Amino acid sequence: MTNAASGQTVYLETFGCQMNVLDSELVLGELRAAGYTPVDAADEADLVLINTCSVRQRAEEKVHSRLGELNRCKQQRPDMMIGVIGCMAERDAEGIRQRAPHVDVLCGPGELGSLLALIDQARSGDRPAVAVTRDWSRREPAARRARDDGLEALDRSRRPDRAGSPAQAYIRVQRGCDKFCSYCVVPFVRGPERSRPPDHVVEEARRLADAGVVEITLLGQSINSYAYEMGDRVVRLPDLLVQVHDVPGIRRLRFVTSFPGDFDASILRAMRDLPNVCEYLHLPAQSGSDRILSAMRRDHTVDHYNALVDQARRIVPGITLAGDFIVGFSGETEADHQASCELIRRTRYKNIFVFKYSPRPGTVADRNLPDDVPMDVKRRRNHELLAIQAEIAAAHNQTMIGQRVEVLVEGYSKAAVKARQPGRPASDRSDWRSEHQFVGRTGGDQIVVFDGDADLIGRLVTVEIASATDLTLHGRAYETS
Ligand code: 5AD
Ligand code: SF4
Repeated sequence: MTNAASGQTVYLETFGCQMNVLDSELVLGELRAAGYTPVDAADEADLVLINTCSVRQRAEEKVHSRLGELNRCKQQRPDMMIGVIGCMAERDAEGIRQRAPHVDVLCGPGELGSLLALIDQARSGDRPAVAVTRDWSRREPAARRARDDGLEALDRSRRPDRAGSPAQAYIRVQRGCDKFCSYCVVPFVRGPERSRPPDHVVEEARRLADAGVVEITLLGQSINSYAYEMGDRVVRLPDLLVQVHDVPGIRRLRFVTSFPGDFDASILRAMRDLPNVCEYLHLPAQSGSDRILSAMRRDHTVDHYNALVDQARRIVPGITLAGDFIVGFSGETEADHQASCELIRRTRYKNIFVFKYSPRPGTVADRNLPDDVPMDVKRRRNHELLAIQAEIAAAHNQTMIGQRVEVLVEGYSKAAVKARQPGRPASDRSDWRSEHQFVGRTGGDQIVVFDGDADLIGRLVTVEIASATDLTLHGRAYETS
């Protein structure tokens, strides 16, 4: 414990994916244990940390503009320390040093275990304190890489907090990625694929369950290739699902993200046979055109993807699917785009995430392929994919009216949070309704908003669906468990 930090405050802001959200939680836990008190605003903090994302250029630009704002803060309060952690610190430490010389600490995602030491180093005047990995060793096969990973200690340091613990938590089961899709920066910033020891994952699940967590989401960039060698056997994702499924108190188990190229049907069978594994798969296709998939080095064809979707629906009849698509990848023609539209119509996703292609320095696509689809075309294609998806989801959600679904209650709805803001005038009837609106998700990851009573947060309730839009189901809770 670093007593230098006692009385110090920290503010941590997170950009990017679920992996970053989890890293932030772990970092904050370490800082708390070292004597820091978290605060809600950067301008009240002695230490400001930004956990960053490099997956698209826009995410990086947002961080640079945030760093500009923080510079103005620091001019008022020169003692304030600023740290940039995560993927952008790994990818472009030098660029950040040049554009933002007021940054005191730079720490890549592979070096977060030494963040406290870096902060101390910077505080003692040796700044900026920088730790990035750069040379990732990929010599060992993935199933054998995990054991001596310095980061394991950070995951294991997790201290679930009984008082403040939410009902849901992420657990990392895999770090990094070996797929090297041609557009993607992740294998460079998060390093090689390494699976965590299954007993560590299960122990973490147990501690979280003891702290009140009922839903766990296992995280990995290509989680279906999870593999951990133990003696002469290899523990794979279905085995891990069985082990976590058996932890008392865990009512729901999810896993993301799946890579279609090497997805094995044994995972679908585990989903079918284990009642608490949610019937939900995040299965990014990225494109519906074989030509583009090949340029993306995605390792799957449209036929393979379709066969996998059919198999998933056969083995797990109620399964819901989510997908990712990139529009405007190098060389994407109107016909390629139409093929993506077609894939969305055929797959009937619950929801999709659509991204405009953004060339990332160091990737194969950036080196070898032109970014030749104009921005206005990317924008239009983005809207078109989302419009098709909205129609499909709206039609599907209409069929849910009258059904009863089980919902894990996450909190008050956005309308309720707004209506409950302090200082609002006395409520009229419509405000009363908004104030008692909650939001949660089904096992299939559908968002449900419903009227209910207090104390539901963190519980599983049965909701009867009364109306629906493309993104949200609305209903009434009538039973809790
Ligand atoms: N440009 C646009 N989208 C990207 N993604 C990853 N790299 C890029 C990029 N260079 C998208 C993919 C991935 C999601 C997390 O981000 O769709 O599944
Ligand atoms: Fe990136 Fe492909 Fe790995 Fe996903 S599977 S993180 S898109 S390289």
